[in-house]
Amino acid sequence: VARLTAIDAVSHAVESAVCTRRNAVSSMHSREAFVRLAAGVEAVLDGSATPDDRASVLLGAAFAGMAIENSMLGAAHATANPLTARHGLAHGHAVALTLPAVVRWNLGEPAAAAVYRDLGSHLGEPLADWLERIIAAAGLSEAPGLDLDEPEIGRLAELAAAQWTGRFNPRPMERRDLAAIYRSLPGIHVAS
Ligand SMILES: [Fe+2]
Repeated sequence: VARLTAIDAVSHAVESAVCTRRNAVSSMHSREAFVRLAAGVEAVLDGSATPDDRASVLLGAAFAGMAIENSMLGAAHATANPLTARHGLAHGHAVALTLPAVVRWNLGEPAAAAVYRDLGSHLGEPLADWLERIIAAAGLSEAPGLDLDEPEIGRLAELAAAQWTGRFNPRPMERRDLAAIYRSLPGIHVAS
């Protein structure tokens, strides 16, 4: 539960930071959330967390919630929710799969890319690389047994396109873009 909710909290900080409803109040909370989450999340994920690490992640998660309250989320949640609804993935696992791909997509939007650079400025590596690394290290970049065929990719993309939260993604996604995200997810094997 701690690992999945920690990744979810990171996704809340990252998505609220770039969504089209971001503003001065939400951005302040997103950034403060991310700094605290980044300080402790790797230790939470690998099981070595001290009480201080857990406190940092808990406070970061709370600040990320305040960021959402003042803004919105984005396409990582829009694409994750159908995986939970149709395939039973825990929310944190579904977001762990979709978030890195959505961050890479959003790098095509200059203002979002600038926010990501700011968030990642103390990580020592680009935000998308850091996310992929910590998620893989936590064993959350695979979804065992999740074999999707093209009709199912289409259904998932249709459901993702209908998700309210996806409308606030900084770089708009059409249904074909959402389908491409599903095809690109690590550990998902698409039968033709
Ligand atoms: Fe979430």
